Amino acid sequence: MLMKMVTRWKQAMVNSPECRQRVLVSIASTAKRINMEILFNKKIKDLISDKLEVRERLDEALVAQEKKFVLNSEFLSEKNKKNHKDLYSQYVKDFNTISAKLDAVDKSNASGNHSAFRQLKIDETYNMNAAYLHELYFANVSDVRSNISMVSISFMRLERDFGSFDEWQRDFIACCLSSRCGWVVTYLNTYTQKYMNCVIDLHSQNVPAGFYPVIVMDVWQHAYYRDYLKDVKTYTAAMMKELNWKIIENRFTKADKILQVLRS
Ligand SMILES: [Fe+2]
Repeated sequence: MLMKMVTRWKQAMVNSPECRQRVLVSIASTAKRINMEILFNKKIKDLISDKLEVRERLDEALVAQEKKFVLNSEFLSEKNKKNHKDLYSQYVKDFNTISAKLDAVDKSNASGNHSAFRQLKIDETYNMNAAYLHELYFANVSDVRSNISMVSISFMRLERDFGSFDEWQRDFIACCLSSRCGWVVTYLNTYTQKYMNCVIDLHSQNVPAGFYPVIVMDVWQHAYYRDYLKDVKTYTAAMMKELNWKIIENRFTKADKILQVLRS
């Protein structure tokens, strides 16, 4: 079946764009019918692009690769950690599925009231943010030797833009307590050119424009409820004791470079 699809695609490539679109829709329909949407992930794209040299067309779909994280945190149970990684894994799978569907969806009937295209675009951002915010969160927590230097870029930038490091902490915790199930992020705002904290509801509501994240905290209930019930404040304080400032310092360094480019 896989090779049949590849052959059909190869034949379509020599025809008109309209023909290629019809074939792509047909292939997507076949894949859906036999529950093989996964064929549109990286494996099939690599196969088609490498063998048939049609990389330019096929790279339109986005593909996320699941990453592995070791969570050493002493403040979360093992069941909590496993459940959280499983959730992340599903977000990556769903993002890839949606991205493949967007390659073939009919855009001619796009509508703000109701359309398959609109729903896919909404779900694309939701699952894409879920995948990448989880990666940022897993990477910047769970450091049992957490330590921040007063001469680090992280410390100096937070002190500069929040008045003091302690004030950044107070603001960050207040943001976590304000979340309605979502994320709290310290980010470089590329428009104000300052570091700010924001509260994101779910994965994609209230994401600021010009957003480059440097410190990410998961405050969905699934992140803490098993171990802390509704005590999000104790959960947040525990996670902040294990922030990985080496990872965060690397992000601040890149953010500073972004600012240099923007100011040049
Ligand atoms: Fe989460």
